[in-house]
Amino acid sequence: MKEDAREIYRVLVKHGKKVLYSEEFVRAFHQKHHYRTSVAEHTLQVAAISVRLCRFLERHGVAVDERAAVRGALMHDLGMIGRREKYRNDLECSQRHPGESAKVARRLYPDLDKKTEDIILRHMWPVKLYPPPTSIESIIVSLADKWGSITDLLPFAQPWEHRWAGTFVKD
Ligand SMILES: [Fe+2]
Ligand SMILES: [Fe+2]
Repeated sequence: MKEDAREIYRVLVKHGKKVLYSEEFVRAFHQKHHYRTSVAEHTLQVAAISVRLCRFLERHGVAVDERAAVRGALMHDLGMIGRREKYRNDLECSQRHPGESAKVARRLYPDLDKKTEDIILRHMWPVKLYPPPTSIESIIVSLADKWGSITDLLPFAQPWEHRWAGTFVKD
């Protein structure tokens, strides 16, 4: 495992151990997401990109709450688990899954802070302009989510995070 990946792995476990070991997350490996990845692989990719963006901003003097970004990223799509049974169609899924993800997050972390909850509830921005982000961490996760989704749809794109997610699973 490359050093960069090792550090990201350490940060994800530090802030999101409860999520990574949850039943929802195990199920997320068995549910396909956009095109090539599972919900879990997509989630790990979004979390990895979020950590990198946090570190980039910190290097440039911007204070960010890395824990909120990591937890928000790791839980943003957990409301999608079981989507075929839970929602009537894709439109309903896209509208309701942020709220359902927030419910899962509150179950995993009963004292969930408002910032992390808002990251989850508002992660569809800017595809959906409302509700908009309320924090820098919310913008980070929303953009990481769109980057992860776009690269998953591009057949020629081979983002390193996909390979990294594979390494994570094998470990
Ligand atoms: Fe989502
Ligand atoms: Fe997502």
